[in-house]
Amino acid sequence: NLPTTFPEPVLLGIIGGTGLYHLDGLVPVAKLVIQTPWGSPSSPIIISRTPSGMPVAFLSRHGVHHQYSPSDVPYQANIAALKHIGVETIIAFSAVGSLRGNIKPRDFVIPNQVIDRTKGIRTSSFFKAGFVAHVGFGNPFDDELAAAIAQHASSALQGDNVLLHTRQTEKANGFSDVTLICMEGPAFSTRAESNLYRSWGGHVINMSCLPESKLAKEAEIAYQMVCMSTDYDAWREEEEAVTVEMVVSNLKANSENANRVIVSILNNLEHDITNHRFGKSLRGSMRLALSTGQ
Ligand code: ADE
Repeated sequence: NLPTTFPEPVLLGIIGGTGLYHLDGLVPVAKLVIQTPWGSPSSPIIISRTPSGMPVAFLSRHGVHHQYSPSDVPYQANIAALKHIGVETIIAFSAVGSLRGNIKPRDFVIPNQVIDRTKGIRTSSFFKAGFVAHVGFGNPFDDELAAAIAQHASSALQGDNVLLHTRQTEKANGFSDVTLICMEGPAFSTRAESNLYRSWGGHVINMSCLPESKLAKEAEIAYQMVCMSTDYDAWREEEEAVTVEMVVSNLKANSENANRVIVSILNNLEHDITNHRFGKSLRGSMRLALSTGQ
């Protein structure tokens, strides 16, 4: 019986993906059921407070009963609802397949690029009916937020044989970017597709980064996806291609690790969040993106 309203702006939003349906160890203080012009979000927004009092919003991307497939997630309503309560920074978690031998199941990956392999069936903008807006998407994520997350995630993951792969670590393997492929499900990729994505420099693959990250950009919210590897997708000749069982078998460990990462981020980034550090360059950017309807 949590309160259904919350009086303060909530600056940080966490979106949980497959296997991460709530935050452990934080005390929930409100449960917001929000309606937006784009419909209802995929779950109520649970507000919790950190030990020092900062409120944090949590939204479950696929719904609390995992009822929304990646193609059906109400992405616009989710981002609009977070924007409505004041969110300026989103850390979004996602289960991914690995396209690289050095990224093993349960490792964490912080991508800085994305390739869109969704099939155009998802609505990917807030703007329509008389408004034309071309948002800059050259950097789909937030480098400053990524660096801050990486710093605190690596200490949280230490000693667990779980590696954190970032732009910095992937330089040693000859990559200047860490690239996420976002595909349309529900079927996983063929072996040929999986190999194609490897040849494009893809590191990991999921089904739900888009349009979430585009909509966050339109909403002028700093957004970073944190990927948790569950499988080697379909490219490894010597292994069985990804199955749901493989994904599920790694989810529990991933969600425990994700919660540790979140605690570490909350302990260390509170000051930056309350001082509106992230996404400064995005504020007001949409005014320049609109080309009609002004
Ligand atoms: N999510 C987890 N593993 C995946 C894979 N191999 N392909 C697409 N999405 C995934």
